[in-house]
Amino acid sequence: SSLLRSVKTLARPTTARAYSVDSVPSRKVTVLGAAGGIGQPLSLLMKLNPLVSQLALYDIGGTPGVAADVSHINSRSEVAGYMGDDQLGLALEGSDVVIIPAGVPRKPGMTRDDLFNINAGIVKSLCSAIAKYCPHAIVNMISNPVNSTVPIAAEVFKKAGIYDEKKLFGVTTLDVVRAKSFYAGKANVNVAEVNVPVVGGHAGVTILPLFSQATPKANLSQDDIQALTKRTQDGGTEVVEAKAGKGSATLSMAYAGAIFADACLKGLNGVPDVVECSYVQSTITELPFFASKVRLGKNGVEEVLGLGPLSDYEKEGLEKLKPELKSSIEKGIEFAKKN
Ligand code: NAI
Repeated sequence: SSLLRSVKTLARPTTARAYSVDSVPSRKVTVLGAAGGIGQPLSLLMKLNPLVSQLALYDIGGTPGVAADVSHINSRSEVAGYMGDDQLGLALEGSDVVIIPAGVPRKPGMTRDDLFNINAGIVKSLCSAIAKYCPHAIVNMISNPVNSTVPIAAEVFKKAGIYDEKKLFGVTTLDVVRAKSFYAGKANVNVAEVNVPVVGGHAGVTILPLFSQATPKANLSQDDIQALTKRTQDGGTEVVEAKAGKGSATLSMAYAGAIFADACLKGLNGVPDVVECSYVQSTITELPFFASKVRLGKNGVEEVLGLGPLSDYEKEGLEKLKPELKSSIEKGIEFAKKN
């Protein structure tokens, strides 16, 4: 039935005629880091997505098992597992969307920036391979620190001469997912109807939920708004501490990653008015990369949407986040230029 729903969504802009499953375009999705904590449930969720026709699962180890397991699910996509450097090209060739949850996660006491040294190198080498094997693919960057790994990817793509700013996305959907859940709980509204834009970046205070724009409207006190903001900013840490050394958010992240990849696929397929928050190249502030609402289309980013009206508290938050976000961006660019 969800397949039917997607087919109907695709059919909407044109005149009514009979649609079959065949009218859904072929789309290859590659997951890099598919055997990890995020990678496995994300691979499962992508296998359930009827917009995917080919699912390529890549990791440095463990992918034959994950791929064999996921492939038995009776849904549309064909699944293949790839392992090790010499199979990376095959995993990427012909890919429409590449999702990257490869790298190490946080342990208690670590910030996302503490992951920089390991993950920056991983992201750099994976992006070099993307430039070589699927230069036109849409890239969904999950590996942290996203505030820096997206600028690293942009530099790698520029060096390779294939950079298209419309196709590079930092996945901040989990911040939106958290803001929606926390808001619904506090405002006592139906979570399924909640919308909250989250802008800025993806780490601590750089995560700026815009609860003044949240719908359905609720009369929350300033104290409530501040508590919700802080909880959204510290949502990742809440999970890291609860997992007590066993990693960071994986299941909610896989859900968020699947929602965002689905939005990218819908955009590619020409579904109108697909809007999600994402960390992209941007001119809506003075910073070169910034998360905000983005309209997705056949070429990736169709339009970077503005911030809309901000409360005084949000304006203050915006000014506060800029120095940290700026330095994370510069750190990424510097790494990519040096290495
Ligand atoms: P994990 O350690 O469970 O899995 C990572 C996987 O990446 C492992 O299977 C590992 O073998 C693989 N890997 C390492 N080097 C690789 C390479 N060169 N090529 C391909 N695969 C490689 O970690 P987990 O929990 O899945 O987290 C992955 C990343 O996602 C971390 O950087 C984490 O901080 C980030 N993350 C991002 C979030 C976001 O909102 N954007 C939320 C939660 C985590």
